[in-house]
Amino acid sequence: MGSWTLDDIPWQRFAPDRLDPELVRIVKAASLVEHNGAAYAHHLCRVFADDREFQETARAWGAEEVQHGVALARWAALADPAFDFAAAFVRFQAGYHVDFDSERSRRGSRAGEMVARCVVEIGTSSYYTALREAAREPVLQEICRHIAADELRHYRLFYKTLDRYLAREPIGRLARLRVALGRVAESEDDELAYAYYAANEAERPYDRRHCSRAYARQAFALYRPHHVERGVAMLLKAVGLTPNGRLARLVSRLAWQAMRYRAARLARLARVARVA
Ligand SMILES: [Fe+2]
Ligand SMILES: [Fe+2]
Repeated sequence: MGSWTLDDIPWQRFAPDRLDPELVRIVKAASLVEHNGAAYAHHLCRVFADDREFQETARAWGAEEVQHGVALARWAALADPAFDFAAAFVRFQAGYHVDFDSERSRRGSRAGEMVARCVVEIGTSSYYTALREAAREPVLQEICRHIAADELRHYRLFYKTLDRYLAREPIGRLARLRVALGRVAESEDDELAYAYYAANEAERPYDRRHCSRAYARQAFALYRPHHVERGVAMLLKAVGLTPNGRLARLVSRLAWQAMRYRAARLARLARVARVA
């Protein structure tokens, strides 16, 4: 694992005239969430306490997530020299709490935990692909290219582990679907909203709804139909359904429409707030 390092990033090509301030804000937030990867790896090692092989994989995975955070933070500091990553990360950890010491997966089983991890990697691999395609700044494009490739590999890794655990601790498709949809819904929870706050708005009190909407508005605007189609196929595969049939086409269409509706609504709300 670990197919690239910070030295592989062409930092000297940084082009400040190609920056988009909205992307800088969401990159700062992403740097905090990614940098928390080591804490989640610790949790996976607790949940898979008797699986040495997977523990090693989880630790290597966590180190890669931390590297994503470091690369994004370094880019964010180039884009905005006032960005103090260390202080923002302290704020993020102080305000966003998850019980990383728990030995039980919140998903009810270890196979369920792997379904949830697959969903997260689907989210991140689509996100960094969409971010790379939207970004005009060449160094950010290159960072996102490396990260998106890692996230796709992480998905495959968790999918392989899911397959292994399904043979030992089988859970049905419906249970897997429930876990997957539950994890998708959690993307609206505090983690991203608080990261957005800690990275960008620490001078005022935390307003969860405002930060959640601000993050989602900027992130949703990046997606295009092909990102949604690919994400849906990967999700159907993780829950044991055919990834490229009629169901996939239908779900992709519905998901894309829901996303477009949501993006338009968030943009409208932001316009109203600016006028008020
Ligand atoms: Fe990552
Ligand atoms: Fe990942």
